Amino acid sequence: MIHKASAIAHPNIAFIKYWGLRDEENRLPANDSISMNIDGLTTRTSVEFDTSLQEDQLSLNGDEITGKSLSRVQKFMDRMRQLADIHLFAYITSENNFPTGAGVASSASGFAALALAGTAALGLDLSSEELSALARFGSGSASRSIPSGFVEWHTDPDTGESYAKSIAPADHWHLVDCIAIFSEDHKPVGSQAGMLLADTSPFQAARLQDSTRRLEICRSAILNKDFAALSAITELDSNMMHAVMMTSKPPLFYWQPGSLALMKAVKEWQSEGLEVTYTLDAGPNVHLICIPNTFDALIERVSAFPGVINVLHGKPGGPAKLVPNEDSGTSPN
Ligand code: PMV
Repeated sequence: MIHKASAIAHPNIAFIKYWGLRDEENRLPANDSISMNIDGLTTRTSVEFDTSLQEDQLSLNGDEITGKSLSRVQKFMDRMRQLADIHLFAYITSENNFPTGAGVASSASGFAALALAGTAALGLDLSSEELSALARFGSGSASRSIPSGFVEWHTDPDTGESYAKSIAPADHWHLVDCIAIFSEDHKPVGSQAGMLLADTSPFQAARLQDSTRRLEICRSAILNKDFAALSAITELDSNMMHAVMMTSKPPLFYWQPGSLALMKAVKEWQSEGLEVTYTLDAGPNVHLICIPNTFDALIERVSAFPGVINVLHGKPGGPAKLVPNEDSGTSPN
């Protein structure tokens, strides 16, 4: 047994979103999804097992974490302990190179890095597929932060096997994700709780029924580097997920007025010839995907956009990977 290991992982942005579970206990998503890892943003996590500990301890960006967030991580650690049949507790230290509470979800990169560092520290050598399947129990989208670049998370409806695989490497297409931050507050309803309401929306069935078509369009847009096709399907998919959220019982409104204003501005910028598209997760911040030629003009417009308090950006990112225990791995962009 190794005892201590460290790993890094990037968050990802989904072009075809997952929202809803077909099997809560086994964390099987209601639909497959496609995403891109975001290179500029990195979580680095170290896991060190210690015979003297009575329970797992978690520090995030230097702060000791307790309560619900700690329990969620401890539950995930239990799953890894079970796999290895080892019953020791660990110090878990996690750091994001993007500002804490910046409005960028760190659960995907956090649980991907934890899955890799935790299993390595327990002496397990899992394949990328096995790691991805494991990471989804921490956070569904974490399954997509294990493989590299452009990624599809597929569930086999017969076997229940559910993991993400790379469909193209990070250097396949030089897209950039510019994230317009409108709020750094924690959202009142997180995605794990929010998506449990998905089936209460009369639109969820239609969204799911059409998902194979959207996945096919998105996959081939990525493989053919067809920005217009990617743009149309990404916006439709985001709008469809938010339509489900807004029509759930109770309804969930994640947008702020500024989010909608920016989406409308994107439509104007597109008509001027700017190659950019928008997508939003379970929060008010707007991910603007663009090509490098558009980047300078876009950053200038977004930074000056009313209500935007920060803009982060990153190109397509690599897989979760082990790093030396001493290596900081979280150097700023
Ligand atoms: O990873 P989770 O279980 O917190 O869910 C993430 C859901 C969305 O970000 C809204 C969509 C997605 O596919 O990333």
